[in-house]
Amino acid sequence: MSVLKITGGRSLSGSVRVQGAKNGALPLLAASVLTEGISVFRNCPALSDVQATVQILRHVGCRVYREGDALWVDASGPIRPEVPDALMRSLRSSVIFLSALLSRCGEVSLALPGGCELGPRPVDLHVLALRALGAEVTEAGGRICCRAAGLRGGRIDLPAVSVGATENAILGAVRAEGSTVITGAAREPEIVDLQAYLRSAGALVSGAGSSVIRVRGVEKLRGADHRILSDRIAAATILAAAASAGGSVRLYDADPACLGPVLQVLRNMGCRLENAGNVVTLSRKEPLRAPGSVITRPYPGFPTDAQPPIMAAALRAEGTTVMIETIFENRFSHVPELLRMGADIRTSGKTAVIRGVERLRGAEVSAADLRGGAALVVAALAAEGETRIHGLRYMDRGYEDLALTLRELGAEAERIG
Ligand code: EPZ
Repeated sequence: MSVLKITGGRSLSGSVRVQGAKNGALPLLAASVLTEGISVFRNCPALSDVQATVQILRHVGCRVYREGDALWVDASGPIRPEVPDALMRSLRSSVIFLSALLSRCGEVSLALPGGCELGPRPVDLHVLALRALGAEVTEAGGRICCRAAGLRGGRIDLPAVSVGATENAILGAVRAEGSTVITGAAREPEIVDLQAYLRSAGALVSGAGSSVIRVRGVEKLRGADHRILSDRIAAATILAAAASAGGSVRLYDADPACLGPVLQVLRNMGCRLENAGNVVTLSRKEPLRAPGSVITRPYPGFPTDAQPPIMAAALRAEGTTVMIETIFENRFSHVPELLRMGADIRTSGKTAVIRGVERLRGAEVSAADLRGGAALVVAALAAEGETRIHGLRYMDRGYEDLALTLRELGAEAERIG
């Protein structure tokens, strides 16, 4: 099994380009099944989650090929509503295929999705959305079975904010008969990007980015050419790494407008930040200050996916940081590993209290999920000596060659084995 070896203590400097967004690419690829044409997704990151989604697309009958950073998906042929359980369980966003396949085929039976272990991840809101569009939905034996002789537009009132359920609601509504209004919708930038693609495929969707989305169903969608937005969580991770190690880095193809709360926390920690167009520059020369309390919230609040890397950046900050995780029950899997590196963290339920320490030391640690792995990398850059990080399969889900990106910024980072 490969290991990421990082020798800490070097400050970072230089420029890197931010990859395309994982959480943008996955729902877009599922959406392509709704079109009866050829779509091109540019700036598509080379990630294992994207590869698993490509396998699903091929299994349901699409032709898919990659040319550089562009992924071509031909969904013009017959589509079959069936995905192997193992593929469904390999990632959480496989659940987005539920409405796309139901809309295209009239019935679908899928195993419940997998993905990172962040606590309970029910699908009740996805089911609520599909039922509101007239589908018969049954759940039994770890599977969801849906049937609809044509989805019908309606009112979908989501009682809680869910990115995935909002995406499933939109994909179910775009080819449904009549109009749909979705209230309580998630407002993430990835949903705005999904709307942009669907509109260029001929869909009538508006309101993405707000909590009310309106859709008027159309009979058919065509293929479309779409550039995937940049990955705000990958950007937040690199910025956290630079804050932790010190130095000055420049991120190209980053979108500061999507990074507001993250940039504010880094400023509160004493980092100097400059934004110009899609370039974000971070410099950190002075000792870090603790940012006070950080509470994760749905967009436009502080993103839960940035909680682990930002927590790791705060480990040596002067003072006390309180992090409150409101989105997932169990998103502190990185804490025991950070304690092995000499961090001072106490957790209780959804709250973690981090007291800044003077130094961290390298250790042998393991990632237990994608962003938890990123936290170990951020801490290792500031630690004395060598850290060896196991569980890279988690990080490969969401980061394109993190070791290379860090080396481009002057870090001593190497993937071995
Ligand atoms: C998306 O997951 C992201 N994944 C996650 O990123 C991200 O953490 C999450 O949104 C929140 O921002 C992708 O976009 C592929 P949710 P999703 O439905 O859609 C509860 C990463 O690291 N809920 O918004 O699965 C749920 O349990 C990943 O890149 C229900 O109760 O998240 C959670 O507590 C991790 N019932 C909360 O809502 C439902 O039917 C938010 O989940 C659905 C969700």
